[in-house]
Amino acid sequence: MNQRETLKINSKGHLEIGGCDTVDLAAKFGTPLYVFDEKYIRDMMDVYRDTIDREYDGHGLVLYASKAFSCMAIYKIAAQENIGVDVVSGGELYTALKAGFPAEKIYMHGNNKLLRELQLAVDSGVGTIVVDSYDEADMLNELAQKKGIRQDVLIRINPGVEAHTHAFVQTARTDSKFGFSISDGTAEKMTAYILKKGSLNLKGYHCHIGSQIFEKQSFVLAAQKAMDFMAKIKADLGFEVDTLNIGGGFGIWYTDEDAKISVEGYAAYLEALIAAVKDKANELGLKRPYLLIEPGRSIVGEAGITLYTVGAIKDIPGIKKYVAIDGGMFDNPRYALYQSKYTVLLANRVNEECTEKVTIAGKCCESGDLIAVDVPLPEAKRGDIAAVLSTGAYNYSMASNYNRNFIPPAILVKDGEADYIVKPQTYDDLIRNDVVPGRLK
Ligand code: LLP
Repeated sequence: MNQRETLKINSKGHLEIGGCDTVDLAAKFGTPLYVFDEKYIRDMMDVYRDTIDREYDGHGLVLYASKAFSCMAIYKIAAQENIGVDVVSGGELYTALKAGFPAEKIYMHGNNKLLRELQLAVDSGVGTIVVDSYDEADMLNELAQKKGIRQDVLIRINPGVEAHTHAFVQTARTDSKFGFSISDGTAEKMTAYILKKGSLNLKGYHCHIGSQIFEKQSFVLAAQKAMDFMAKIKADLGFEVDTLNIGGGFGIWYTDEDAKISVEGYAAYLEALIAAVKDKANELGLKRPYLLIEPGRSIVGEAGITLYTVGAIKDIPGIKKYVAIDGGMFDNPRYALYQSKYTVLLANRVNEECTEKVTIAGKCCESGDLIAVDVPLPEAKRGDIAAVLSTGAYNYSMASNYNRNFIPPAILVKDGEADYIVKPQTYDDLIRNDVVPGRLK
């Protein structure tokens, strides 16, 4: 079993999460089912917030990157835990606002924000907008001017550190669609441009070096480079910004190929980052920036599991054994997109020995619709409950109605209680927006 306290095997040999027997959850709520452990989510939010309080005198804010999992309940939890959120679309923003999330603690991202998204952000008093293009700066300046406000903004920069799961590279130039490079002068030009905009208030810079990253050093390096750039701006333009947003990206456990980091272990990432920021501020004679981090995956990823019911089993002798489940790429497209690896268990027989390697297939009409390839399992039978672990991040948020399958509901569990946070869809939901024009009748 992995490190999560609440993921246990109970006396019936069933997998338990948040004090709930997963076999009972499957019976009560049906499958496929996303299950989120509330305590894990809160613990992760707290550990980041407390580290900023303890190591940095509270001079910063944790922003939950809600692209990892967005629904009204998660914004409620984030508000209760006293953290901020990052949103990347009008839809995420609307969901946060509808959940009553305080607008001033919302940071809005996007490399191509639409006019209507910027309008909604300005109208609803979104605290900070992370500007990522010249025309966005123009549009936003105009909207803010019309409203008679000065909108706080960050500029998205590229520090020239690109991180991948098990490595990071430093690049002089970046070909990313995001941000302005500090090495080729474009970030400085953008800074000068924003400083001339009367209705924009430049607070600082944002960077994000990648996702599912384990090396502390890559975050440290990005922060150091961003601060060197802040010192250069101070020297060149005589303007000292006061905010640094270092983005998200801390890695999580999916399989035993990944490190298992405890909730407290994540504090060490932030401690290293904070130490580097303090040192750099001293070295460069800068004031300590207001520090923002934007973890998404590490807050919700390991908090979530998906429950499925095993259906058809196809053994192709000497080649492969497929175990088909009642979900697939429509609820978890990450294998199809990235060949991501997962740990799969039979939740109703967790103690049984794994005797074979199987491929977990979805039910979509597509050969690439797989959830996990060559994973060890006890011999599965129709009706078994399969649990796929670490599915809390970028599963529901990337789900679709492909093949007109239902996007599964999500429940939140804590101390043996389970409640819907996303209701099940119905066939009527699937045709809700369909229109048959008169001339087809
Ligand atoms: N901030 C920014 C600006 C980001 O672009 C991201 C993720 C985050 C924060 C949160 O990063 P995290 O802590 O979750 O690693 N769909 C992909 C992941 C895409 C991540 C995009 N940006 C996946 O399923 O792995």
